[in-house]
Amino acid sequence: MINFVTSNKGKFAEAQAIFGDLAQKDIGYTEIQADTLEEVAIFGMKEVAARLPGPVMLEDAGLFVEALNGFPGVYSAYVQKTIGNAGILRLMECQENRKAYFKSVVAYSEPGMDAVMFSGEVHGQIGFEPRGKKGFGYDPIFYVGDVSLAEMDLENKNQISHRAGSMRALKKWLDSR
Ligand code: IMP
Repeated sequence: MINFVTSNKGKFAEAQAIFGDLAQKDIGYTEIQADTLEEVAIFGMKEVAARLPGPVMLEDAGLFVEALNGFPGVYSAYVQKTIGNAGILRLMECQENRKAYFKSVVAYSEPGMDAVMFSGEVHGQIGFEPRGKKGFGYDPIFYVGDVSLAEMDLENKNQISHRAGSMRALKKWLDSR
């Protein structure tokens, strides 16, 4: 059984749909200020692996908006907490270029091995209004085609999402050993 360290129920539900057997551990870890999701994930993993013996994974994700030069990126959690989706829509008011992507980096470790990492991305656009009640975080303002991620069932989001990409890559690696 793999322990997935996260406080986010939405993330956990998406990961569980891919892995089946998974345990949520809401134990918290240090999220360093760094330039990349990979650095945040690997630092967190070192801390978590020292505290939780056995197979363990964690995931760091971010929203990268092209017209904002990749902002909020590694600061996505802080920006969501402070200005939120309404703040991002305001920053995008005069922007014609709506292109954005989510990236997910999952780190996995078990005793006796170095941590491994896998990533996934989903490309789409920042909408002009929030739509949908499902999902979490930036889902209502992130559109793939005409549909926001918050309008999709978990099953549909898991067909295309950044998280599904990184988690499926990890699962494939685990299954192939
Ligand atoms: P973290 O990976 O928990 O640090 O997430 C960074 C920020 O991006 C948080 O505010 C999350 O709510 C948001 N976020 C992460 N993944 C998703 C997603 O799949 N959809 C929408 N927002 C997300």
